[in-house]
Amino acid sequence: MCGIVGYIGKNDSKEILLKGLEKLEYRGYDSAGIAVMNENGVHVFKEKGRIADLRTIVDKSVMATTGIGHTRWATHGVPSKVNAHPHQSTSGRFTLVHNGVIENYDLLKREYLNDVTFVSETDTEVIIQLIEKFVNNGESVLDAFRNTLKLLVGSYAIALLDNQDQGTIYVAKNKSPLLVGVGSDFNVVASDAMAMLQVTDRYIELMDKEIVIVTQEKVTIQNLNGETIDRAPYTAELDASDIEKGTYPHYMLKEIDEQPLVMRKIIQTYQNDQGELTIEPEIIKAMNESDRIYIIAAGTSYHAGLVGKQLIEKIAQIPVEVHVASEFSYNMPLLSKNPLFIFISQSGETADSRSVLVQVKELGYKALTITNVPGSTLSREADFTLLLHAGPEIAVASTKAYTAQIAVMSILAEVTAKSCNIPVEFDLIHELGIIANAIEALCDSKEIIEQISKEFLSVTRNCFFIGRAVDYYVGLEGALKLKEISYIQAEGFAGGELKHGTIALIEEGTPVIALATQESVNLSIRGNVKEVVARGANPCIISMKGLEMDEDSFVIPEVHELLTPLISVIPLQLIAYYAALHRGCDVDKPRNLAKSVTVE
Ligand code: AGP
Repeated sequence: MCGIVGYIGKNDSKEILLKGLEKLEYRGYDSAGIAVMNENGVHVFKEKGRIADLRTIVDKSVMATTGIGHTRWATHGVPSKVNAHPHQSTSGRFTLVHNGVIENYDLLKREYLNDVTFVSETDTEVIIQLIEKFVNNGESVLDAFRNTLKLLVGSYAIALLDNQDQGTIYVAKNKSPLLVGVGSDFNVVASDAMAMLQVTDRYIELMDKEIVIVTQEKVTIQNLNGETIDRAPYTAELDASDIEKGTYPHYMLKEIDEQPLVMRKIIQTYQNDQGELTIEPEIIKAMNESDRIYIIAAGTSYHAGLVGKQLIEKIAQIPVEVHVASEFSYNMPLLSKNPLFIFISQSGETADSRSVLVQVKELGYKALTITNVPGSTLSREADFTLLLHAGPEIAVASTKAYTAQIAVMSILAEVTAKSCNIPVEFDLIHELGIIANAIEALCDSKEIIEQISKEFLSVTRNCFFIGRAVDYYVGLEGALKLKEISYIQAEGFAGGELKHGTIALIEEGTPVIALATQESVNLSIRGNVKEVVARGANPCIISMKGLEMDEDSFVIPEVHELLTPLISVIPLQLIAYYAALHRGCDVDKPRNLAKSVTVE
C-alpha cells in the first residue's frame, strides 16, 4: 500500500527512483509518480496505472541528483493522474509524497486553508498547502514542516522537497513505515529496504513523530521539539536474489515452491545444538503466565491464527481466542486476568493490528509478534518477536508466510508444552520434516492441480469451500486465495453450517471444494458433500491418504493430523494460482489490493 522512495546524491536520480518504485510494486498501487529537482526547479512526472506507464512519460533529458517517488493506492479520491503523488503547493515551491491517511484533513482545510484552491481530491494536499501557508507567514521550512505535522491526525510517511533548497529532502513518519538508507556519497529514503537495496543495505529506523533532514552527506533525526536523536544504521539482511523472480513467471508460484525450503529453514533456525526445538525463555515464561492467549491478525494471517489456536490449545493446553484486528480495535472483548497477545503479520506493518498493539500496550499487557520482517513496526513495538524466516514475500497473495506462521506456532506450542511437562506425543521436528517432503511432492503435482482448476473453475462465477474442524479454517484461506487473485466469488464455510442458509446458493454446476483430512469428521464432511451434490453442485473432494474414497479428486500425502493445514493448503494455493492464470488475471498484483495494508 503506497510506497515512497527518495534519493539525494551525485548520480542522476530518475532511474534509481523508478527502479525503487518497481521494487515497491508488490505493495499494491494504482498510480505512480516521481519529482526530481535540479537548478531549473522541480520536474514532476506522474501517471495513472503501472510504473511502466510512468516510464513512458519521464523526460529522459532532465538530469537531477535529488528526487522523490511514490506509488499510490487510492484512499481519498479515485486513481487518476491528478490524485497521483507527488503533490505540489500552489506556488510550486514545495513538492511532497505521502503514505497514510490524514483523518482531519477536512477540518484543517476549513480552519487554515479557506483561501487555497485544491487541485486534487486527496487528503495529502492539505499537508503541502499548510507547509506553504506557514512559510508564507514567515516560518522557516523546518518550522513550517514541524508545525504542520503537529496539526495532523492520522498516519503519515512523508518526503518533501523545497525548490529553494536543492540539497535537502525533509522526511517524517507517524504509524506508516519509512526508512532512511545511508550511502557513502548519497542517502536515500524508502518505505522498505527492498526498494533501495540496489544502492545500499544500510538503513536507519525511524520512530513515530520524528523528522529527518536528509542531505547528500548527512542524516539528522529530530523529535517534534527539535531535539536531535542519534541512531546508528543497521544492515538489512536481504539477498538481492531473494527479491527477483528468477525463471518463474510469477512471484506467487515461486513462493509456493519455496515452502519446503522455508519449512526446513524454520526447523533449522528453531533447533539448538542438542537437536531440540527452542524459543527464548522470556517468551515461554509469558506463555505459561498467561491464562488466555489473544491472537490478533488480518486476512491470511488471521486464518493462520485460527490454525494456531488449535495447535496451542491442543498441544500447550492454554485457551486461545482469535480476533480480526480491525474489529478488536473498536470492540474489545472482556479480557481474562492475565492475557498474552500474539500478533501475526507477514509484513509486521498492518495498521489494524498495530492499532490493537498500541491499545494493549497502553493497558500494560505483554505482546508477542510473529512476523516475517525483522525490525518491522509490530516487531519493534511488541515485547517479543518470533521470525518466520520465509524470505521476502512479494506476491500480494500470501502463501509461504501462511505455512511459516503455522509452523512457528506449532513450535511455540510444543516448546511451551514441554516447559511445563505437558506430554507431547509426537516428535515435531520429525513431523515438520515429513511436511517439507509432502509439500515438495505436492508442488511436483502442478499439472494435476492445474487440470482440477480448469475442470472446476474455468467458467464459474462462484465457488464454495467446505471443511470441518481445522479443514474449515483451511477452506477459509483457500477461498481468500481464490477470490483475491482470480476474482471468482469464493466463500469458505463450516461443512455443517451450509444448510443453515448458504445452501440456497448452490445451483447446477456450482463448484464446491471440500477438504477431508480429519478422521473424526471424515464421514460427516462427506455427508455435507452429498447434500450439495443433491442440489446440483460439482464437488471436488481433496482428502488425505488413509481417508480417501473413490470419488475424491485429489489425495494429499498423510501427515500428522494436527499439521494437515500445512499441506492441505498447497493444492488450494495452486488451484487459485491456475484459476487466475487461465482467466488472464494479474496474479502477483491483483486489482484493488495492497500487500502491506498500512491504513486502518
Ligand atoms: C493475503 O493473501 C492477503 N493479501 C492479506 O489478507 C494479508 O494476509 C493481510 O492483509 C494481512 O497482512 P499481514 O500478514 O502483513 O499483516
